Amino acid sequence: MGKFQVIDHPLIQHKLTIIRDKNCGTKVFREVVDEIAMLMAYEVSRDMPLEDIEIETPITPSTQKTLSGKKVAIVPILRAGIGMVDGILELIPAAKVGHIGMFRDEETFEPHEYFFKMPEDIDSRQLFIVDPMLATGGSAIMAIDSLKKRGASNMKFVCLVAAPEGVKALQEAHPDVDIYTAALDERLNEQGYIVPGLGDAGDRLFGTK
Ligand code: PRP
Ligand code: URA
Repeated sequence: MGKFQVIDHPLIQHKLTIIRDKNCGTKVFREVVDEIAMLMAYEVSRDMPLEDIEIETPITPSTQKTLSGKKVAIVPILRAGIGMVDGILELIPAAKVGHIGMFRDEETFEPHEYFFKMPEDIDSRQLFIVDPMLATGGSAIMAIDSLKKRGASNMKFVCLVAAPEGVKALQEAHPDVDIYTAALDERLNEQGYIVPGLGDAGDRLFGTK
């Protein structure tokens, strides 16, 4: 079973409360999602491999650590995942970005894929799949199915708010994928929304409702 980690740093909890508030407007919502994603990227990238290199400090030759060139791609699930990309790029600026478009049928909660564009070498990259919400898990599962079909094998899923139902479904479907979330909420409601959650992440990010 992959790792499941709630990254509940006090700064992250504080910022999550700001965006959970229904009175938080689009501008602040967008800014704070970006900040939380950046803070989460520290933890999500904790096991990035290092190698030794020889350098010279002003004092002496020395063996030091550098990232070992294991390349990263950030994969936002459209639309709402887009809000998490820039924050992670601030820490890993050389990462490539692939996009996968999914929307959830409002009645059945079934996900549908409508867009897929990845860097050519996804099979040799560490992928950080990002989407603020893990609700039923359907969108994340289908996105990862799609990535695996195209050769990806090294993936972490990063969200802001997860429902227990979604975590269970994703772990069962893809036990090889580590899951990171800023909060594990109580449950889903009858409309498939996370409770207490933060509402519709895409609409709140882009101001479409
Ligand atoms: C939201 C969210 C996830 C999905 C989660 O996207 O951003 O992708 O729902 O729900 P699930 O775990 O039950 O699949 P939505 O379909 O609303 O599309 P949007 O990002 O374009 O608003
Ligand atoms: N998608 C969202 O944007 N929010 C939820 O609570 C569930 C699915």
